Amino acid sequence: MLASLLHAIGHTPLVRLRFDDLPTGVEVLAKCEFFNPGGSVKDRTALSLVEDGERRGLLRPEHVIVDSSSGNTAVGLALVGRAKGYRVTLVMPASVSADRQRLCRAYGAELMLTDAFSGSDGALAHVRALVAEAPQRYFYADQYRNPANPAAHYATTGPEIWEQTAGRVTHFVAGLGTSGTVMGTSRYLRERRPGVRVIAVQPDEPLHGMEGLKHMPSAVVPEIYDERAHDEVAVVSTERAHETCRELLASNGLFVGHSAGAALAAARDVARTLRSGVVVALLPDGGERYLQTAPGAAEPGA
Ligand SMILES: Cc1ncc(COP(=O)(O)O)c(C=O)c1O
Repeated sequence: MLASLLHAIGHTPLVRLRFDDLPTGVEVLAKCEFFNPGGSVKDRTALSLVEDGERRGLLRPEHVIVDSSSGNTAVGLALVGRAKGYRVTLVMPASVSADRQRLCRAYGAELMLTDAFSGSDGALAHVRALVAEAPQRYFYADQYRNPANPAAHYATTGPEIWEQTAGRVTHFVAGLGTSGTVMGTSRYLRERRPGVRVIAVQPDEPLHGMEGLKHMPSAVVPEIYDERAHDEVAVVSTERAHETCRELLASNGLFVGHSAGAALAAARDVARTLRSGVVVALLPDGGERYLQTAPGAAEPGA
């Protein structure tokens, strides 16, 4: 029995995938983050941001937790805030799906919607202005700048992958949004196995359909991001990510979101070049989340 729902965050399954074109001796394993209670990898980040704020005395009961998010951190903060009894305000682009907005409201969070065309950078600018106006009112979780974001992955995602592969992981592949996942997991895995290769996945253009991923060359670069944390960058198009989602569902029965499709496309590219190896791809969320915004994009036969 768990003492609270928050103890169900993390400890996600690592699943071996079957693909016809994989060289023998190469494994592709999927870290299934949609098993988190809020449905995504960002539950880990949200819990870490909130508990770090509590430990450092920056988050007190009278505060409103605030952050900008394209969606999954929003759900994570709404869930963690509700479980711990805090008020939560979330700033997000108006383009975030109506279902996602409803989900955050269902958890009791207040939403502020910003211009859809300014994307996550517009939401970021808005939340910074809001906090600057009334710093005493808010606990600004600040996922783009707060070291507690990568620390979540250093403390949990990295060790889980290490243990679940019994130290056999040779490649780690994940998308870059705030970059917290890649920064923290890479740091942990490199400490355990200095030769591990870390592949960061990015969209091929600024306006893309892989929610959660950032096109770094054109975006406001997150303060926590350090390009030395990865050995390679893999560039994936929206079309290819969507196609990989459909293939994964058809071949392995996993229904994942588009940034997961991008990570898996890059992981398969790497796997095809190897003679032996254990390639771990992190799949941030599930396909249900996008049925409304991109109907058909993750369904086979579409
Ligand atoms: C669906 C999805 N994929 C990928 C990411 C990127 O993760 P990170 O912010 O740790 O770089 C996010 C982050 O919000 C996300 O929501």
